[in-house]
Amino acid sequence: MKIAVTGAFSYSGKYITKRLLERGEEVVTLTNHPNRPDPFNGKVKAFPLDFSNENQLVANLRGAEVLINTYWVRFDKGSNTQPKAVENTKALVNAAVKAGIKRIVHISIANPSAESHLPYYWGKAANEKAVVDSGLSYAILRPTVLFGKEDILINNIAWLLRYLPLFGLPGDGSYKLSPVYVDDLAKLAVDAVYKTENYIWDAVGPDEFTFKEMVELIGETINKQRPLLSFPPRLALLAAQFLSLFVKDVMLTPEEVDGLMANVLISKDPPRCKTSLRDWLVENKNTVGKEYASELVRHY
Ligand SMILES: NC(=O)c1ccc[n+]([C@@H]2O[C@H](COP(=O)([O-])OP(=O)(O)OC[C@H]3O[C@@H](n4cnc5c(N)ncnc54)[C@H](OP(=O)(O)O)[C@@H]3O)[C@@H](O)[C@H]2O)c1
Repeated sequence: MKIAVTGAFSYSGKYITKRLLERGEEVVTLTNHPNRPDPFNGKVKAFPLDFSNENQLVANLRGAEVLINTYWVRFDKGSNTQPKAVENTKALVNAAVKAGIKRIVHISIANPSAESHLPYYWGKAANEKAVVDSGLSYAILRPTVLFGKEDILINNIAWLLRYLPLFGLPGDGSYKLSPVYVDDLAKLAVDAVYKTENYIWDAVGPDEFTFKEMVELIGETINKQRPLLSFPPRLALLAAQFLSLFVKDVMLTPEEVDGLMANVLISKDPPRCKTSLRDWLVENKNTVGKEYASELVRHY
């Protein structure tokens, strides 16, 4: 089967593609970085992820039976905003319909809501609606925070713990998270390719931590147990923005602080993914957080 995956050389798309190739499937990718080092030795044909050119999108998707869509925008930068990402997702879904794609496997986020005041969550709900309304068969997977070798959030918490004498928690750190291992999400996405029914599933791992417990766990595992101090959320954000100047990145946005504290990175469903962050950290304790992972370097 020919399958189109957005971002096959990026993060979750890379794990998904690896699994598809192992199953003998043909994979093409749509990416903003077609010249990024190709981890698949030329086995994956790359096309531009150019939402403004519908004819080209349709031509590049033609012949594929399934589209696995990982496309997102983490935060607004210039004209690259959440409403624009919704527009782009609609363009991609419309192109998939015109190209004769039969099924979409769409990666979303846990607890999206059209009523949310957070643009990312509002946008994710609108993207899901575009998929559901497309008339194509679909599976929508809703992960929480991803972890894995190329991760940003958990890696950068470890980086802060390694190199700073203390860690500032936004608020009291009592809000909860259920992180999910990126390759477990990839397995759910690949399994979804071969199903025919429509469904929307949360994709979360077996752990549920408070944010403070998670930071403590990371510190204990990498042997950097720093004092964890509670800061008013806006002050913690200000500190992150100050540090961002040194790493030339956007470490944390106001919306992310609100999202983190709104207890939306958990699920009411039983966990569908088995890898525990606790075990993964033990296996990766010598590398996690050694280098800062920059969102801006990755996507801009
Ligand atoms: N990472 C997490 O912790 C996390 C948590 C919950 C949900 N999710 C969801 O999981 C999905 C995949 O996340 P991921 O971290 O695996 O994504 P990713 O691989 O970093 O990116 C996926 C795709 O989106 C494109 N993209 C990312 N940022 C962009 C930007 N600012 N402008 C234009 N294109 C951009 C990438 O472009 P390139 O092809 O050029 O790389 C790639 O094609 C997303 O829907 C996300 O909302 C992620």
